[in-house]
Amino acid sequence: MKILTTTKQLQDYRKDINQSIGFVPTMGALHNGHISLIKQARTENEVLIVSIFVNPTQFLAHEDLSTYPSKNEADIKICELANVDVLFMPNINDMYTQNELQIKAPVLKSYILEGYVRPGHFDGVLQIVLKLFNLTNPTNAYFGKKDAQQLSLIKQMTNNLFLNINIVECEIIRDEDGLALSSRNAYLSKEEKLQALLLSQSLRIATQMIMNKQINSIQIKEEMTKTLNGLEIEYIEIVSRDFTKLTECEIKNTIILIAVKIGNTRLIDNLWI
Ligand code: PAJ
Repeated sequence: MKILTTTKQLQDYRKDINQSIGFVPTMGALHNGHISLIKQARTENEVLIVSIFVNPTQFLAHEDLSTYPSKNEADIKICELANVDVLFMPNINDMYTQNELQIKAPVLKSYILEGYVRPGHFDGVLQIVLKLFNLTNPTNAYFGKKDAQQLSLIKQMTNNLFLNINIVECEIIRDEDGLALSSRNAYLSKEEKLQALLLSQSLRIATQMIMNKQINSIQIKEEMTKTLNGLEIEYIEIVSRDFTKLTECEIKNTIILIAVKIGNTRLIDNLWI
């Protein structure tokens, strides 16, 4: 595995590749959620590039940029074991300059839900993902459904900017108790982890209701709110695949999204129906 740390090294490497390229962008502290993306990309491409970069522009001023978990040594081992060809680990000064051109996420879709709680977050996500796409110019790029709104905006960016990149949507990986894996789970105490299980539990209740043909969004949200009793709920929302609010769940066109705060930790989860 090559570890490349500068944009120049990556551009030089990329120039000589004529095979299919799979790309998995991450912010590191890799867990089985990331690994499932990496494994899928490995089987579907001749060359596999993974990036690890904790992108400052997608964090708001009060957020956890300075304490975001970093596990470089373990991450390098994981990528080696997963047969990654290139691990790209750039530094901030190489990825960004002062006063640079800004990417703006589309207002309607990026200032609701995650974007309402984290205004400007998606501008930063699209800014870095576009830079990484331009450096790697991949055939296929892999993103988790865990970050549903991010995935949707990245798909829109590739369409709107005519990028010739296939965006692959990857399933949410959970631990044995149902908790969706996240680098931020590392912040949770034992007691908080138990509370965090209520997220997937409330999504299971929503599934049951829908299976019983109870598809009214208000009723589903009420039941979910009861299950999440005691947690600081930021939002529970039921939207279509293009993120418009739904009054009734539609099979194959619904995403149920939750965000809560447990102590100082924000957790998100969702269910695609
Ligand atoms: P990060 O949170 O490290 O996630 C990297 C990728 O892993 C994202 O596509 C995310 O959706 C996916 N992922 C995380 N947890 C997952 C889980 N439990 N199951 C399946 N996939 C999961 O998302 C980012 O980084 C950044 O915003 C990034 C796109 C790298 C831009 O900085």
